[in-house]
Amino acid sequence: MMKLLPFLLGLLPILAKAAVVPRWANETYLSSAGLSENNIELFNFGMDILDSNFALPFLWQSPKLSSWYAVGLLARNQGDDVDVANKLIANIVTQQFTDPSFVGYGTFKDPYYVPYSDGDSLFEPEIYNSFDPNINLFFVIAAIIIDSQFSDLLEASVLDNMRHAMYVAVVGDGYRVGGVDGDNLYPDYSNPWYMRVVSATYVGSLFHDANITYWAEVWAKEAVDLFDQTDSISEFNGGTYEGVTLFAISLAQYTPKNSTIYNVAPRLIKTMWNQIAETYNPSLNTLSGPWDRTYGFDLTQYYGILGSAITGIIGLKGSYPMPKPLDGSVHYTDMAVIPMQMVVAPYVEAQITAEAKSKLTSLYDDHLYTAQAISPPWDKRVRNYTYWVADGLSAGGVSFDESVVGGPSINRPSFSPGVILWDAGKSGAGSGYISYYPSNPSCEIVASSSNLTIRYVPSSDWPNGIVSNSIQLSISSLPDFQLNKGAFADGTASLPGLDVALSGNVVEQGNMSISFTGDGINSFQYYNLTYTIPSPLLEGEDVPELVVGFTKTNPPTYQLFV
Ligand SMILES: *[C@@H]1O[C@H](CO)[C@@H](O)[C@H](O)[C@H]1NC(C)=O
Ligand SMILES: *[C@@H]1O[C@H](CO)[C@@H](O)[C@H](O)[C@H]1NC(C)=O
Ligand SMILES: *[C@@H]1O[C@H](CO)[C@@H](O)[C@H](O)[C@H]1NC(C)=O
Ligand SMILES: *[C@@H]1O[C@H](CO)[C@@H](O)[C@H](O)[C@H]1NC(C)=O
Ligand SMILES: *[C@@H]1O[C@H](CO)[C@@H](O)[C@H](O)[C@H]1NC(C)=O
Ligand SMILES: *[C@@H]1O[C@H](CO)[C@@H](O)[C@H](O)[C@H]1NC(C)=O
Ligand SMILES: *[C@@H]1O[C@H](CO)[C@@H](O)[C@H](O)[C@H]1NC(C)=O
Repeated sequence: MMKLLPFLLGLLPILAKAAVVPRWANETYLSSAGLSENNIELFNFGMDILDSNFALPFLWQSPKLSSWYAVGLLARNQGDDVDVANKLIANIVTQQFTDPSFVGYGTFKDPYYVPYSDGDSLFEPEIYNSFDPNINLFFVIAAIIIDSQFSDLLEASVLDNMRHAMYVAVVGDGYRVGGVDGDNLYPDYSNPWYMRVVSATYVGSLFHDANITYWAEVWAKEAVDLFDQTDSISEFNGGTYEGVTLFAISLAQYTPKNSTIYNVAPRLIKTMWNQIAETYNPSLNTLSGPWDRTYGFDLTQYYGILGSAITGIIGLKGSYPMPKPLDGSVHYTDMAVIPMQMVVAPYVEAQITAEAKSKLTSLYDDHLYTAQAISPPWDKRVRNYTYWVADGLSAGGVSFDESVVGGPSINRPSFSPGVILWDAGKSGAGSGYISYYPSNPSCEIVASSSNLTIRYVPSSDWPNGIVSNSIQLSISSLPDFQLNKGAFADGTASLPGLDVALSGNVVEQGNMSISFTGDGINSFQYYNLTYTIPSPLLEGEDVPELVVGFTKTNPPTYQLFV
C-alpha cells in the first residue's frame, strides 16, 4: 500500500480550539446531555463498581481502562472526581511508547508495571504479547470524549499532554498494515479498524493535519465498502467486539461534519442494531450464537460490552444481559467502558428504530434470521449465518470457507460457529449450551427449528487445506445434573430442558468419546463429546455430517434458592 503523501508536517502541531458544548451553570453534564433514566442508572451502577475497585495510580493497573474511567469521573464531576481524572490522565501519558523507531510507537504499556519492550529490553517485542497496538486506540476513543466534552475541566498541561499523546497514538497506529510485521489490522478486524477511523478523523481535524485526515478518509471508505458488501461488520455478532465497534462508530458524533464517518455512522449504527434485535433472544437474556469472537456463551455469565449497550436501552429493573453480580464476573474489567458508553448512548439510541428497541424487550415471535459477513483476506466468499431464535431456545450456525482454524482471529476457543442455547432452568448458571468446537477450517453449519447440522464440505477456495478428522461438541456443565460414563452411547441424551438426538454418517460410522476434564473454554467447564471420522468417510464421496436434533422439554426446578 502506498502510504506517503507530499505533505510536510510542522514540528509543533497547531492545537485547534476544542468545541465545548455550552452548559447552563445550573446544569451538570449528566442532566443536560440527554441520557435516559436507564442510561443514568447504568452510568451510576458502573461508576459504583469502578469506584470501589479503584486506587491511584491506575484502575486495575491499566492505562487503557483508566482512560475509560476518567471519562466517567469527568461526566459525574462530584467531590474530587475532576482532580482524580486529571491525575489519571497525567499518569496515563507517562506509559506511552514514544520512540518513533519502535514498531509499537504510540501504544501504552498495559499493565503499567511491565518493562518496555523496545531497545535493549528482555521483553522481546512481540505484537499482542509485549506490546498491544490496539491500546493506543482504546486510549484515543476515551480521549476524544474528554477533549470534546470536558477539556474545560482539565488543567492546561494535562490537556496539552493528552492531546500530544492522542497525536502520537494516531501516528503510531498509522504504522500498522495488515500482513506486515505480523500485524492483522485489515478492515475486517472491525473493532480496531473503526477505532482507527474515528481516532484519525478526530485527531486529523484537531491538529489540522492534512495527511492524517487524508488517511482517515481512506480508512473510513475501506470500512464502508466492506460493510456494504454484506450490510454487516466482519466481527459479526460478538458480545464484546460488536460492542466495541458500535462504541467506536458512535464517536463519529464528535468528528467534523464533512468527514465520511460522521455521515455514514447513523446508517451503520441503525443497520447493526437491526441485526442485534434479531439475534438477541430476550427470553434467554443473551445474544444467540454463532459469534465470530466471544469470551463466553451467555451474556448473563460473562460480561460483554454489547450486553451493557442493550441494558442501557432495556434498563436494570428486570432481567438483562449482564452477570449478576457484575463485579468479579468473567471478563468483568471490560465494564470500565460502561460510564462512557452511557455518555454516548443518547446519540446511539437516536439511530435505533423503535421497532428494534422493542424487539430487545420481549421476544416478538419465534423466528428464523439469516445474515452474511465477510472477512478478507481470511474469506474469499461470504459467510452465511442462520439463526433460529425461539422462546427459551436459540440455535445458530455459520458456513465459512477459510484456510485457518479458529476464524480470522485464529483462536479456537473464541470462535463459536455453531451453537445451541436453551433455558436449562433457573440455577444461576445461565443457559445450557452445545457448541461446535472448531477443528476444520471450512464448515457448513446450518440451524433450523429442529436441528443444527454440521458438515465438512470440501473447501472451494483453499483446496489443499488440511481436513480435520473429528467433530467436537462442547456441552455445558449444569448444576444438579451430570452425564456419566456411557452417556450418548446411543447418540441421545436428556439434558435439563432439552432432549438431544445425534444423527448423520459421522455418528453412524465414527468412534465416539465423551470426557469431562475440568478444563474450561473461556472459563466455562464443559463435557467434550467427540466423534472421530473414519478415513473411508473422510476420503470418500459423502460429506461428513453430524446433525444435532433437539427438542425443548420443561426446564427443571433446582434444589437451590435463586
Ligand atoms: C437552567 O437555567 C436556564 C437559564 O436560566 C433555564 O432555561 C433552565 O431551564 C435551567 N435548567 C434547570 C435544569 O433548572
Ligand atoms: C501519512 O500517514 C500515513 C499513515 O499513517 C503514514 O504512513 C505516512 O508516513 C504519513 N506521511 C507523512 C508525510 O507523515
Ligand atoms: C473538512 O473541512 C476542513 C475545513 O475546510 C478541511 O480542512 C478538511 O480537509 C475537510 N475534510 C474532509 C474529509 O474533506
Ligand atoms: C454463502 O452463500 C452464497 C450465496 O448467497 C454462496 O455464493 C457462498 O458460497 C456461500 N458461502 C459459503 C461459505 O458457503
Ligand atoms: C434438520 O432440519 C432441516 C430443516 O428443517 C431438515 O430439512 C432436515 O431433514 C433435518 N435433519 C434431520 C436429520 O432431522
Ligand atoms: C476433546 O476430546 C478430543 C478426544 O479426546 C481431544 O482430541 C480434544 O482435544 C478435546 N477438545 C477439547 C476442546 O477439549
Ligand atoms: C475406532 O475404534 C476402533 C476400535 O478401538 C479402532 O480400531 C479404530 O481405529 C477407531 N477409528 C477411528 C477413526 O478412530
